[in-house]
Amino acid sequence: MSRLVYVLNGPNLNLLGKRQPHIYGHETLADVEADCRRVGQELGLEIRFHQSNREYEIIDWIHEARETAGGIVINPAAFTHTSVAILDALNAFEFPVIEVHISNVHKREAFRHHSYVSLRADGVIAGLGTQGYTLALQRIAKLINDKKA
Ligand code: DQA
Repeated sequence: MSRLVYVLNGPNLNLLGKRQPHIYGHETLADVEADCRRVGQELGLEIRFHQSNREYEIIDWIHEARETAGGIVINPAAFTHTSVAILDALNAFEFPVIEVHISNVHKREAFRHHSYVSLRADGVIAGLGTQGYTLALQRIAKLINDKKA
C-alpha cells in the first residue's frame, strides 16, 4: 500500500491561530503542516498537505488521492456538517480515512454533532487540538504497516 498520505483541510482553516483562538488555539495551519511533515518523516510517510475554502477542490484532491495515496486525514471543517459530495468522494477511496476536528464538536452547537464524513471515516478524533492531526497520522501508519505484515 502506498505510504503517501493526504492531509486535507476545509474552509476557514487558513485562519487557524487567528480565528477564535479560545476554540481552535494559537497554532497556525503552517505549524500544523510542519508537525505533520516532521511526524510523517518519523513514520516513513510522504505527506501532501492542502487547505481550501472551495468544496470542489477538496473533492478533486480526494480523487487524486484515490489514484496515489494509502490514506487520508481530513478536517472538512464546516463541510463536515453539510457535504454529501465530500462523503461520496471519500466513499470512492478504498484506504483508511481519519476525520479530525480540532475542537470537541460534541461539546458545541447541535448542528456540529452530525457529520456526513463520519459515515465513511475509519476513525474520528475531536477535541484534542491540533495534536489530533499527528495522532491520526500515527493511526494511518499503523494501518498501512499492519496491511504489509
Ligand atoms: C472544526 C469543527 C467544525 O464544526 C467547524 O466548522 C470548523 C472546524 C474543528 O476542527 O474543530 O471549521 O472542524
